[in-house]
Amino acid sequence: MIEVFAPGRVNLIGDHTDHQGGLVLPLAIDLGTTVVGERGGDRVRFRSLDEEGTVEIGLGGSPTPAAGPEWGRYIDALVELMRPTRGFVGTISTRLPIGRGLSSSAALELSVALALGFEGSPIDLARLCQRSEYRAVGVQCGIMDQLASAVGVADHALLIDCHDTRITPVPIPESVDVLVVDSGERRSLTETAYDERLAECARAAEAVGPLRLRPDVSGIADPVTRRRARHVVSEIGRVSAFARALREGDNEGAGALMMESHESLSTDFEVSTPRLDSMVQELAGTSGIYGARLTGAGFGGSVVVLAARGTPLPRGAVRVRASAGAHTV
Ligand code: GLA
Repeated sequence: MIEVFAPGRVNLIGDHTDHQGGLVLPLAIDLGTTVVGERGGDRVRFRSLDEEGTVEIGLGGSPTPAAGPEWGRYIDALVELMRPTRGFVGTISTRLPIGRGLSSSAALELSVALALGFEGSPIDLARLCQRSEYRAVGVQCGIMDQLASAVGVADHALLIDCHDTRITPVPIPESVDVLVVDSGERRSLTETAYDERLAECARAAEAVGPLRLRPDVSGIADPVTRRRARHVVSEIGRVSAFARALREGDNEGAGALMMESHESLSTDFEVSTPRLDSMVQELAGTSGIYGARLTGAGFGGSVVVLAARGTPLPRGAVRVRASAGAHTV
């Protein structure tokens, strides 16, 4: 019997920077996805304990995705990329809300890849799962989610340079709690303007060079392209400043940077929603809360909150803890 766990992630700051090779600061969380089962045989079969359906793929030949449940396309993609020689029969269960900005798809990919016998470094595991996401959803997402789930460190956020995947764990101060509040708006990357934003960033980079190098973007002629670029460049700066603030115990400073990040995601990058904006405003005005922002791709999903340790949970909030990365239990 094999049991594998892969965590979801919440991003403290640094959204829509990973696809430009910029900095991000996520943490793997204590909510994630568990796969339990047996290796062997000539087919891969997974049943979900939370969602409808069973996925079954024969090994050998090219696995043809049958009309199965939506989550089955991630498994099809992994089987195609990994070409396992042994089958697997098991169940998948998750404590992550699906499509709410906590990387439920990355946790699914990593737990299934490990169950299918992936052997290699956590960074290679993240790269494989990022490729499986492209294949499954057709969106060229960055590597933040898969890396955070693969390399998580207990009690630490991860400062990741997405250009060279250099990772520096940053201790989360004992004086704070990290909270997550679900907006109730479910999103999936295919339904969002993620690809449109990638194209806009590519246009900006053509004009001023790689955005990760934080070029001066003020001369970009098209105002929309200029605003997209301004978000990426300013957000990368905020990630460094936030990591410094955490290390120095400047919780107020860190919270203010989260508020600036949300504002930039909302007005310059335009990936927020009225609901996310009003949640962030309301949370920020609550006693004990240093800052709040949308986390992940946006267009719905969740809000991440930095609060003083022991602050009473706002309605709908869950406290998350930074956890170890994906592993066999
Ligand atoms: C999604 C993508 C990530 C990242 C975030 C935004 O979660 O999968 O790669 O781009 O959006 O920061």
